[in-house]
Amino acid sequence: MERWVAISGIVLTLAIGWVMRDALRQEWTAYQATYYRAALLRAANEPQREWAESQRREVKQIIASEFDTVERCVTCHTAIDNPAFRKGTEPLREHSDLIQSHPPQRFGCIVCHGGDGRAVTTVEAHGESGVRPEPLLRGAYLQAPCYDCHGAEALAPQVIASVLHGKQLVNRYMCNGCHQIEGTGGEEGPDLSTVGTQRSWLWLYAHLARPQAVTVGSTMPVFAMSRDQIRDIAIYLMTLGKTSPSPVAISARARSAEDAQTTEGPGAESLDGGEAAGPAEVTYDGGALFYGAGCAVCHSVGRRGGQVGPALTHIGRKRSARDLKRLLGDPGKDTPDGKMPQLSLSKRQIEALTAYLTTLQ
Ligand code: HEC
Ligand code: HEC
Ligand code: HEC
Ligand code: HEC
Ligand code: HEC
Repeated sequence: MERWVAISGIVLTLAIGWVMRDALRQEWTAYQATYYRAALLRAANEPQREWAESQRREVKQIIASEFDTVERCVTCHTAIDNPAFRKGTEPLREHSDLIQSHPPQRFGCIVCHGGDGRAVTTVEAHGESGVRPEPLLRGAYLQAPCYDCHGAEALAPQVIASVLHGKQLVNRYMCNGCHQIEGTGGEEGPDLSTVGTQRSWLWLYAHLARPQAVTVGSTMPVFAMSRDQIRDIAIYLMTLGKTSPSPVAISARARSAEDAQTTEGPGAESLDGGEAAGPAEVTYDGGALFYGAGCAVCHSVGRRGGQVGPALTHIGRKRSARDLKRLLGDPGKDTPDGKMPQLSLSKRQIEALTAYLTTLQ
């Protein structure tokens, strides 16, 4: 009897697992289907038509030759090297010129953006699946990896303006009075020389905004800083302790490395990315995203969550959906001298979060 219960339990688990797997697969297969369909529709000649017809829907991966990392971002971001998708909708959109000098086969994506390279669902790949939120680097935060590899001399100052500004602020606020950074400084707080390898940008931001809300009993002072100042210090701290290989060493190795798999797209002229991202759309669960996108690091709902920002348990009574959308799109407009960070959320994320927040009555 017990044996049968156990066996049927296993069978049921497998069945559920199978259904779940299928549901998750749909997301990326839909993006690829949309992409190849657009390619076929627009094919200008026989080779392009053949290319589009012969594409199978499959998990695509790059093994970034510089780092030996397995990365599947291109499973969904299939159009990164296709100029016809310059105006496409994410994830079917061409990347900026940066991937000319940093080809995906060598550099992959996560060295700049972060995220989970093996995952094939949007929220997992983007580091928003909740367990330990570490959302992708967006906007100014993307300067940190540039500085890690290139240092201050090789790049135009405006490309790493936030890093340089953050470093200045750390001097101005005399963080060294309490913290060692690369060998000099006080002892009251922990050594920050490798803090960039230990903490996420979101954690660094939240802690600086209100140390006591993140580390119980912290004696670190609360500085009267703007959100941009906090952001820039967080960006600078992210660079501390990163031991990226020097570009020179990378170049030398790259020349001897074999080119890995490439993603070849059809000819540029033949495609119009504007219509490409049809029905396939990521759908977010607003409640899950609240934890996954890092809101809960700073805000609580009920008893769960952080204390850096106000509790949101009844926010639906206080603010309308329109108001919330505006705030999430640009916290700086809503509260000019506040500390809520600009999280560069997408339209779909804002929709989902707003839908969730309005239920909090
Ligand atoms: C399952 C499909 C999927 C995978 C895998 C995936 N993405 Fe995305 N990506 C998307 C979708 C969908 C969007 C648009 C998001 C939206 O509109 O909310 C997007 C948007 C983005 C954006 C820009 C918009 C933003 O939200 O900041 C970046 C950057 C990005 N992805 C990077 C990555 C990286 C790096 C990886 C690999 C670690 C990755 N993606 C893997 C589907 C995917
Ligand atoms: C050398 C660093 C670097 C690498 C490698 C890189 N990106 Fe980017 N990516 C950026 C930067 C910086 C931006 C912002 C636009 C700009 O300034 O070029 C960006 C923009 C994007 C965007 C649009 C979001 C926006 O804010 O405009 C997506 C999507 C994206 N990258 C996905 C990827 C994927 C997928 C890969 C891997 C195939 C990748 N990136 C590799 C640095 C990089
Ligand atoms: C993992 C290390 C790494 C990261 C991160 C990185 N780069 Fe690079 N970058 C390189 C290497 C190596 C080259 C030289 C490419 C080669 O070997 O041909 C390069 C080339 C370049 C070039 C072209 C220089 C030339 O002479 O052609 C520019 C511009 C550049 N990087 C800017 C950036 C920016 C901006 C960022 C951040 C968004 C960034 N890089 C992030 C390693 C990196
Ligand atoms: C009066 C002393 C003092 C000053 C000044 C100070 N801190 Fe701190 N800091 C601390 C103490 C104590 C801790 C440990 C408790 C905690 O985590 O909050 C700490 C912790 C930290 C941490 C967390 C390290 C970790 O990984 O746990 C960071 C990051 C940090 N400080 C950054 C800064 C920056 C940036 C400045 C300047 C703007 C600064 N601190 C100024 C006392 C100080
Ligand atoms: C680093 C901490 C931090 C993070 C992360 C953060 N917030 Fe905030 N938030 C704040 C602070 C602080 C305020 C108070 C206003 C201010 O200072 O800008 C605030 C204000 C708000 C308000 C207005 C509250 C009121 O009573 O009017 C809402 C709604 C909100 N945040 C939602 C979110 C959502 C949703 C996310 C995730 C996408 C998020 N926040 C992420 C710190 C944060």
